[in-house]
Amino acid sequence: MPNSSYDALVVSETDKNNFSIKVQSKDISDLPEGDLLIRVHYSSLNYKDALSASGNRGVTRHYPHVPGIDAAGVVAESSNPLFRLGDQVLACGFDIGMNTAGGFGQFIRIPAEWALPCPQDLGLRDSMIYGTAGFTAAQSVKRLLDFPVVPGKGKILVTGATGGVGSIAVALLKHLGYKLTAVSGKPQAAEFLTQLGAEEIITRQQAADYSGKFLLKEKWAGAVDTVGGEILATAIKSTVYGGAVTCCGNVASPDLPLSVYPFILRGVSLLGIDSAQCPIHIRKKIWQKIAGDWRIENLESLVTECGLQELPTHIERMLQGRHTGRVIVNLL
Ligand SMILES: NC(=O)c1ccc[n+]([C@@H]2O[C@H](COP(=O)([O-])OP(=O)(O)OC[C@H]3O[C@@H](n4cnc5c(N)ncnc54)[C@H](OP(=O)(O)O)[C@@H]3O)[C@@H](O)[C@H]2O)c1
Repeated sequence: MPNSSYDALVVSETDKNNFSIKVQSKDISDLPEGDLLIRVHYSSLNYKDALSASGNRGVTRHYPHVPGIDAAGVVAESSNPLFRLGDQVLACGFDIGMNTAGGFGQFIRIPAEWALPCPQDLGLRDSMIYGTAGFTAAQSVKRLLDFPVVPGKGKILVTGATGGVGSIAVALLKHLGYKLTAVSGKPQAAEFLTQLGAEEIITRQQAADYSGKFLLKEKWAGAVDTVGGEILATAIKSTVYGGAVTCCGNVASPDLPLSVYPFILRGVSLLGIDSAQCPIHIRKKIWQKIAGDWRIENLESLVTECGLQELPTHIERMLQGRHTGRVIVNLL
């Protein structure tokens, strides 16, 4: 049995709809039931964590709560024959960090079905550079490839390009030989995006059409959208005949102001992406790709590493749309 107290970033409701966030000492006995106790070494910051940390009831119903939808660490106790003491594991999605204490604590306890062996070639730290954001980017790219929207068919549009999902999508698409245009609201990040692989960068204003037209000039063979709203609608209206657009996020808006014409006149397809409940056999395949021939070279250029104490500042930046790349959390 490991030492029973540990540190975690705890979000508490101070009074109705006011939330405080601070590092606190917790006890392992406070953790929920589960057949796997994991000593978390690294976690990462995703948009959903920023929502959970700011009291968003759509993500987390009950407080006090420890967010963190991603965790990579070592098995400290297991009552499941699939995992042994000392195994390196990844735990991303499902209910982790939503209504189950998450990876912003040095320990989590979860059902074994929520965990995967960490791919050996990747290691715990690098797996968190990807985390849910990178996994979702890889899922989106896989859906395009399988559709198929293959390299050589034309340009791919990536929205929210400096964010976690967006930046890894840019790097992965480039790695696979696609040509791509990035949408970003951060002019100062142009060099970052060019180095990652964007050939062209356009502003959010250029990417959102408010003319009310049902269809626009065909520009994109496909798109990876992370923001929703007018930018997603415009991407769909500008996708070539038979192309496909993936949709995973709503940082701009949950709305999709659109007519049916891109679908019924151009045969465009909208591909929904969900990482949280993604079945384990697909998860394993995608993580193997990430650790194998989809491994991105210049990953470190995406990373800001911090400890629990600095994490609230990064959460705030993310909520303000000011953050770039991936924040990984060192809990060693
Ligand atoms: N479906 C799933 O399973 C799944 C999994 C992971 C993430 N997601 C969702 O995907 C989205 C992105 O997640 P993330 O972790 O990449 O978040 P993130 O790191 O915060 O990135 C979001 C990016 O979107 C852009 N952005 C911010 N506010 C915007 C606005 N008002 N209008 C247009 N663009 C805006 C910014 O990039 P620029 O400044 O470069 O424009 C920002 O960096 C979130 O909605 C998240 O919940 C879903």
